[in-house]
Amino acid sequence: MPHDAAWWKSAVVYQIYPRSFADSNGDGIGDLAGIIGRLDYLLALGVDVLWLSPIYPSPQVDNGYDISDYRAIDPLFGTLAEFDALLARVHELGMKLVMDLVVNHTSDEHPWFVESCSSRDNPKRDWYIWRDVHEGSEPNNWGSLFEGSAWAWDQTTDQYYLHLFDRKQPDLNWENPQVRKAVQDIMIWWLDRGVDGFRMDVINFISKAEGLPDTPAIPGQRFAIAFDGFADGPHVHEYLAEITREVFGGRGGDFITVGEMPGVTPEQARLYTDPARGELNMVFQFEHMFVDQGQQNKFDYLGFDLVVLKKSLHRWQAALAEIGWNSLYWNNHDQPRVVSRFGDDDPDYWAASAKALATVLHGMRGTPFVYQGEELGMTNYPFRIPQDYKDLEAVNYFNHVVESGGDESAALAGLAKISRDNARTPMQWDVGPNAGFTAADPWLPANPNYIWLNAAAQIDETDSVFAHYQALIRLRHESPILVDGDFTPLMAEDPQIWAYTRTTPDGKLLVIANCGRGPRTVEIGPAWIGANLLLGNLLDTPATSTSTSVDLAGWEARIYSGLRRGGVDAG
Ligand code: GLC
Ligand code: CA
Repeated sequence: MPHDAAWWKSAVVYQIYPRSFADSNGDGIGDLAGIIGRLDYLLALGVDVLWLSPIYPSPQVDNGYDISDYRAIDPLFGTLAEFDALLARVHELGMKLVMDLVVNHTSDEHPWFVESCSSRDNPKRDWYIWRDVHEGSEPNNWGSLFEGSAWAWDQTTDQYYLHLFDRKQPDLNWENPQVRKAVQDIMIWWLDRGVDGFRMDVINFISKAEGLPDTPAIPGQRFAIAFDGFADGPHVHEYLAEITREVFGGRGGDFITVGEMPGVTPEQARLYTDPARGELNMVFQFEHMFVDQGQQNKFDYLGFDLVVLKKSLHRWQAALAEIGWNSLYWNNHDQPRVVSRFGDDDPDYWAASAKALATVLHGMRGTPFVYQGEELGMTNYPFRIPQDYKDLEAVNYFNHVVESGGDESAALAGLAKISRDNARTPMQWDVGPNAGFTAADPWLPANPNYIWLNAAAQIDETDSVFAHYQALIRLRHESPILVDGDFTPLMAEDPQIWAYTRTTPDGKLLVIANCGRGPRTVEIGPAWIGANLLLGNLLDTPATSTSTSVDLAGWEARIYSGLRRGGVDAG
């Protein structure tokens, strides 16, 4: 790949959730050696960058998103030597490796917090956010994203500390320059080891509103999730630009940074990703992940409307068209499986819908992210009872519903649809025990559908979901139109058809998908007569379009390529 500051615009990133990817030593938990053993699979898929969810020492309360040492590897996953071997092998294979950087908060078992807690005048006291009791209760009404108040009481020093997530995940005080310097040093340490960039966890939460004011109350609720109080706060842009200067400044090389940003608006994202501002290459926005959930309670599953989903993603395409850059994702370790969510996981439609959703996502402008198993069309797990869930978010939520006398069966229905454990069941490699993930008892059971839905059954099949992802990734590498072409939505109000064009002065693409079971005939006009089929998800689709309309079977998707001369459509 030539040295180009924007190499990541034609790259595809693959997210590995190490705990659930491949277990090499039979303890039921995936590990680094397991990843090393599967690199050929990722090479065959064709991805450019691997992003590892956290592998640092951690009490594992939030599966590693609660870090107690930023400069080591949790023995659960292996050793630093194994990490170095993995990194070297990834580089040998021509791929890059990105670390997850979780620095909005640490674990409460991190030595910094242990010190901070030890007394009010400890030098690290101010590294976290401590406040006194306010009128007999919490300092403000902010709720934790994982239930209850965002404040926990410390008995030793008689103050509250802020934790936007679990009480075992205290928030760092980024207003303290020593904290920022400590984070920068961690980043430099990993870059010196050879890593190629960072995915930054909830990084738009690092700067809190001045004075930590109450957020507007929700009737009947004591605490509310205060996006206005902690998302995109007053100093966040300054802190990110400082990181770019202090960490990446003067360091040649091809790095990639992506900031996870719940609640970020398109206007903010344009600032974060404006190359002239030097903050981040791209962000993970969440708007399209909220379309089927209640505003304060994400487990309030509302169903979704394709028109709303399309318009949301299209709005982001437009917002970052001139300045900035989008990331594109359907799945990660925090989201249910897309086939079960926006597709159709009935065995008759599962594969076609997985491919159709992949097509519409990968056809857009931005850097696509593939989450492990997505390239196989993995589905949600058939969770039934409360004990099925391992994720603390799910467990806390269910306990809260029980304690507050809520509707338990509605809560279970919401959890089955939305819970993060859906994404975390073992990677389905083959028909062996536990889907080939582990020889022992897996920490979370494999989805029973691994009997027919697994990598071994797909990698050599030309019409598999895997082969479709391979083709989309190849197209991303080969088609400058896919990388850079302008995006224009078509039929925005159609509740079943997802269609848009991508154009440059040299050529144009039509991406069209039928997002439903029923067949549809779609008028596309004379401009596409003679266009070549670049990719389809059914066998035997004619190689050239010969009509002004296309007949699409249920969940059929196609990408056509047409010529454009001097900006004028040519048949
Ligand atoms: C991010 C992570 C999620 C974690 C949370 C707290 O959203 O993706 O898994 O629970 O931050 O670190
Ligand atoms: Ca293991």
